[in-house]
Amino acid sequence: MAIKKIFESIKETITDAIYLGPKGIIGIDIGLSAIKMAEVSLSAEGSYKIMNYSSIPLPEGAIIEDEIQKEDEILAALQAGLKELRSGNKFACVGLSGANTLIKRLQLAGGTEEEIDDQVSWEAEQYLPFPIDEGNIAFSVVGENQGGGVDVIVGAAKKSTVTAFKDIVERVNLKVKVVDLGAAATLNVFESALGEEFKRSDKTWILMDLGAQKTHFMIYKNGVLVFFKEINIGGLTITEEIQRHMGVNYEEAESLKIHGDGNGNIPEEIIEIINQVLDSFFGELKKTIDFWVSSTSEESFDGCYLTGGGAQVPGLIEALQELLETEVQVFNPFSSFSYNKNKISEELIDEIAFRGVCAIGLAMRSIPK
Ligand SMILES: Nc1ncnc2c1ncn2[C@@H]1O[C@H](COP(=O)(O)OP(=O)(O)OP(=O)(O)O)[C@@H](O)[C@H]1O
Ligand SMILES: [Mg+2]
Repeated sequence: MAIKKIFESIKETITDAIYLGPKGIIGIDIGLSAIKMAEVSLSAEGSYKIMNYSSIPLPEGAIIEDEIQKEDEILAALQAGLKELRSGNKFACVGLSGANTLIKRLQLAGGTEEEIDDQVSWEAEQYLPFPIDEGNIAFSVVGENQGGGVDVIVGAAKKSTVTAFKDIVERVNLKVKVVDLGAAATLNVFESALGEEFKRSDKTWILMDLGAQKTHFMIYKNGVLVFFKEINIGGLTITEEIQRHMGVNYEEAESLKIHGDGNGNIPEEIIEIINQVLDSFFGELKKTIDFWVSSTSEESFDGCYLTGGGAQVPGLIEALQELLETEVQVFNPFSSFSYNKNKISEELIDEIAFRGVCAIGLAMRSIPK
């Protein structure tokens, strides 16, 4: 299974990507709030162009963590997404995240390739949320540690989860060529779009994907991912609190959060709920950063980039800036990627910039030979 190669995208970058032709592979990101699909092309000069994009909302609870709950609704959304793409492309790359996946940095004693392989198996076992023989594991060496050994980033996914996502996508007549970790795909877009400054050896960045059910928190240093944590707070946490406090259903709560009173004003009581959720989110973030600082003695960051629909929460950027004591900005893939104006309307640009990055990264994966 191609997931063995998941961390290729972390180690190798744009220079190794193969030319996919105008169609390439459809990147499919099945998130809690929507199924997002993208197609991307790579020019001979090495620049990326977003060729096609669709986003079809999913009803409440269609997917919980990484378990498929409402199969028919997901199939319908996959079909609707493909219809909107009108692409004819039959190859797909599907992203995974959640409780049945793992991304973790491990400090190992090092040695020969075989010894490192063995150490990864022993060490990873204690963190894996499933028995080791039920998963696919990949790793990438990210540096040397003080003990004279090596640090690796391990990526893993439970085989049955890989199969479940592959099967559901293949039921709409696509051929799944790659199953990747969504976070690795997202990181690939950051690396490709932000370029050399981002990969500089003396720079440390915080990257966050603020989704609906979870937030991916990453630290990227010296041109590699060095820390990853999935925090179980996202846009849905706010929606659920609005539902509870205001006695409204999921759709009404989403609308109140995003559109407010209909005139673009977010009512005071919603702002209060948002701030309460942000408080507990910031508590988790602080713990995470304190852990990083205590294990590395590194305290300063060169900046923070955000992606995901949750990054649109009012007041978030300013508050984060205060907490992290570094410049926080929303990542914009269009700063270096071009797009196909025949297929992608101006109205979609914001949606893609916030919510489409993972699908774009999945579409950038090369088809294994
Ligand atoms: N303008 C807005 N203000 C606040 N929140 C917003 C806004 N627009 C979208 N959101 C929230 O962003 C979230 C959706 O973002 P995104 O598409 O990145 O999540 P997802 O990929 O579906 O979720 P996950 O990755 O956790 O499975 C929802 O919780 C939605 O309510
Ligand atoms: Mg997401």
